[in-house]
Amino acid sequence: MSALELRTLGSTGLRVTPVCLGCGVLGGMSAIFGYDVSADQGVATVRRALDSPVNFLDTSAGYSNGESERRVGAAVRARGGLPEGFVLATKVDPDPVTRDYSGAQVLRSAEQSIERLGMDSFPLLYLHDPEVIGFEAAMAPGGAVEALVRLKKEGVAEHLGVAGGPVDMLERFVGTGVFEVVLTHNRYTLVDQSARGLLRTAHQAGVAVVNAAPFGGGMLAKGPDVSRKYAYREADAALMERVRRMAERCAAYDVPLGAAALQFSIREPLIASTVVGISAPERVDQTVRWATWPIPDELWAELTDLAGVSADPTDPTDPTGPTDQHAPHRRGNER
Ligand SMILES: NC(=O)c1ccc[n+]([C@@H]2O[C@H](COP(=O)([O-])OP(=O)(O)OC[C@H]3O[C@@H](n4cnc5c(N)ncnc54)[C@H](OP(=O)(O)O)[C@@H]3O)[C@@H](O)[C@H]2O)c1
Repeated sequence: MSALELRTLGSTGLRVTPVCLGCGVLGGMSAIFGYDVSADQGVATVRRALDSPVNFLDTSAGYSNGESERRVGAAVRARGGLPEGFVLATKVDPDPVTRDYSGAQVLRSAEQSIERLGMDSFPLLYLHDPEVIGFEAAMAPGGAVEALVRLKKEGVAEHLGVAGGPVDMLERFVGTGVFEVVLTHNRYTLVDQSARGLLRTAHQAGVAVVNAAPFGGGMLAKGPDVSRKYAYREADAALMERVRRMAERCAAYDVPLGAAALQFSIREPLIASTVVGISAPERVDQTVRWATWPIPDELWAELTDLAGVSADPTDPTDPTGPTDQHAPHRRGNER
């Protein structure tokens, strides 16, 4: 299945599928997604993922206070371990009660992940949402990044990544030379390409890009009449209308909107892998189908027009440049 052929994740040398399955929603995040996912369903979803053509999973210590990792760990144990060559990435997080995000907390967070996931070490460990404390605090002596570097020296983390929201902050982390992977979310989709500058900066620095939330948290998978939120916030009428037009054009070519939204990210050469949030076993199969759905060039031409991007999204002379059309929807500490 060529659309899911392994790619090298930058300097890590890890070989990953262009699709990664995200375990945020399957941990039960009703406050964000508006519905809960039972533990049984969450574990069953991970089990299906482990035996799918996808070899890359994304979770975090902080997702539902560790519940996502607990479910992932339960599925891995039930299967008798990870499949050969599978890459399970997780993230360190602040203390859920005190919000402490010091170096000491990062060490505790990783230790708890080791227990929940039943792993001795992580192929890829991210600093999660450092915007909650800011670049300077994260980089300070005794801070979160210093602790991550220690975890790498000790072999607990094979490779380090940084995952977060604001692209200008992520660019600063890319510039530190500490991280081999940067994860951005909701900012390289059919309706928002504000991470474009970050993609270029990371490429120049030799840092691999992982793009999460290609559906903007659901709207670009379910359609604006089912999911009225983009990036976990109510979308404005103009955005909904734009997505409706995209959905209509997709329907005209018999292509699901979600397939186009997913492949919009997969086909971007500066993105190594795209993280899709899933909450049920059948979503794993649907994601694989969407990743491989044939999409005619004519539809891409119409969609790139509606998306407001040039035909070649990597073109550095692209006059649309980095934009942040939905910035007003976000706060600094948002996922
Ligand atoms: N700061 C960070 O590190 C960060 C931030 C955001 C995301 N992430 C990672 O990226 C992952 C993806 O982000 P996300 O889940 O927020 O956003 P997303 O992938 O854009 O959207 C997930 C939503 O799309 C829906 N969906 C997926 N496949 C579908 C299908 N075939 N048909 C209909 N609906 C479908 C899911 O619905 P159902 O629930 O119905 O399946 C879910 O509501 C997260 O799980 C997490 O691992 C990381």
